[in-house]
Amino acid sequence: MWRIFLYFGATITDMSIISECTASVLKDAASALKAGHLVAFPTETVYGLGVDAQNEAAVARIYKVKGRPKDHPLIVHISSIQNLDKWARQAPEYATNLAARFWPGPLTLILPKTDIAKDFITGGQGCVGIRVPDQSIAQALLKEFENRGGFGVAAPSANRFGKVSPTSAKDVEDELAEYLGDKDLILNGGICQVGLESTIIDCRSERPNILRPGAITKNMIEETAGIEVVAYSVNDQIKVSGVFKTHYAPKASIFLAGNPDKGDGFIALAKYNTPEGTIRLAAPKDHTQYAQQLYQALRLADQKMIKKIYVIPPYGEGLAIAINDRLNKAASK
Ligand code: TXA
Ligand code: MG
Repeated sequence: MWRIFLYFGATITDMSIISECTASVLKDAASALKAGHLVAFPTETVYGLGVDAQNEAAVARIYKVKGRPKDHPLIVHISSIQNLDKWARQAPEYATNLAARFWPGPLTLILPKTDIAKDFITGGQGCVGIRVPDQSIAQALLKEFENRGGFGVAAPSANRFGKVSPTSAKDVEDELAEYLGDKDLILNGGICQVGLESTIIDCRSERPNILRPGAITKNMIEETAGIEVVAYSVNDQIKVSGVFKTHYAPKASIFLAGNPDKGDGFIALAKYNTPEGTIRLAAPKDHTQYAQQLYQALRLADQKMIKKIYVIPPYGEGLAIAINDRLNKAASK
């Protein structure tokens, strides 16, 4: 009886492919990346599914694991602004200023690429997306990877294409474990601090163009760049998030207006009471918490097999813009 218990105990533990991040695990993870394996890792925004950005065969696996269209470009993650020149060129002054001010941080810059950024990273475009994440595990992993001769780690959010981005290692495991191989890894870094994907800025024109709103807000960008931005204008010449209808979507349907029925999910700031009979999925105190808890709440709805989620979106500028952007896309399924 005892042996059977131990046997099952061992089996259950072995089933999880999440690694706790000791210094030696981080070194192994960097070596795994260099050898062409996939490593999911925490960032301050969401978890990324990392791969050596120069390894074409390994990058091809990312598209398979995510179920993502092949021509959709990937963000390259580097450990510091010092490595920017390897991947990007002709950065306008405002882009260098933004990088100096907000890196490490939740900001991705789109810039003309160097020859190192191949078509399999850029989706065949002449530009590359670069980010320096502000998370200790991500930083350590990138530095170890660079110590092994790597130039950058391409990492989309570690979810299946069109689904909710993961903000915990368990989310990544639930979403991708069945598609990962024996030598791939998921690093545990707890819950992501920001909870929404980085702000993406196209820096190829005279004025910065926000392609995806995030925690680095329009005001913050304008203050640092000293130029008015072109906000949220995605043109069809650039392949970017959100042009697909089902982005950030849970299985449940999302409603941003109307009255919930008994058994429906409910998300709103804490100041709103829970309508009778509904299931409260999140009650954030402010917009920072709203961003941090939103994806967790959407996943919780699916786990509870809730079919409809009613949301009171946050009102205002700044981070509220990013939250509303994701809510609108999740609701337009
Ligand atoms: O916060 C984040 O940005 C997370 C973490 C892991 O860093 N990453 C992330 O990656 O959200 P992903 O692939 O899920 O979304 C990145 C978006 C994609 O929609 C892609 O089209 C756009 O960035 N992108 C990447 N490179 C680009 C490029 N060269 N030109 C235009 N858009 C690009
Ligand atoms: Mg994504």
